[in-house]
Amino acid sequence: MTQQPPHTFIFDVYGTLFDVDSVADKCNKYFPEKGEKISKTWREKQLEYANLRQIMGNYEDFYSITKDALHFAVKKYAEELNEEVEKELLENYLYLSPYPEAKAVLNQLGDKNLAVFSNGSHDMLDPLIKESILADSFSKIISADEVQQFKPALDAYAYVSKILEVKPKDVLFMSSNGWDISGAKNYGFQTAWINRQNLPTEELKLEPDIIYKDLTGILEWK
Ligand code: LAC
Repeated sequence: MTQQPPHTFIFDVYGTLFDVDSVADKCNKYFPEKGEKISKTWREKQLEYANLRQIMGNYEDFYSITKDALHFAVKKYAEELNEEVEKELLENYLYLSPYPEAKAVLNQLGDKNLAVFSNGSHDMLDPLIKESILADSFSKIISADEVQQFKPALDAYAYVSKILEVKPKDVLFMSSNGWDISGAKNYGFQTAWINRQNLPTEELKLEPDIIYKDLTGILEWK
């Protein structure tokens, strides 16, 4: 930690603050035996479609991408999706659980400016965060939808910097997604990779400044 301590802490949402594993349980309920596979494909396609649409310059919001990815995953495993099941599976994203350490860590970062920045659209993010125990933790909930540029595009991180009126070097950016950390580093944020799945570092020559197994580690930066 050779640089100036950052005063603004920006958090990714899915997989970083909120646990997305419960989505797999719900998939298992409707698609016994295939739930794990369907939820894995669903998540992979959700990220892939966001990336593809970003590259193609053919934007759709993350809610709609999440729905399309679910349709793909269900078709891939030769299952059917009726409206009621589709609704219930998508609603999962509104009721995810925060990781057990999240609230206590955020509470201890008192004098830092805490914000959320997600590819999720506000119709997904706002109900999730505002109905959770993390509701009062953030000064701003910022969505990539506001600028219609998905992370890891430079313009997405540049937008959040502009909205928060901060220089990139004064930001510590947290994500559990290796690709998101690479994107944030590429833009110039300081980065803490919350490597919950104990994965190897992405080979993009954009190393995280530091790696922790959960959010507790960031208390070193307070
Ligand atoms: C987020 C997802 C993609 O931006 O993790 O919150």
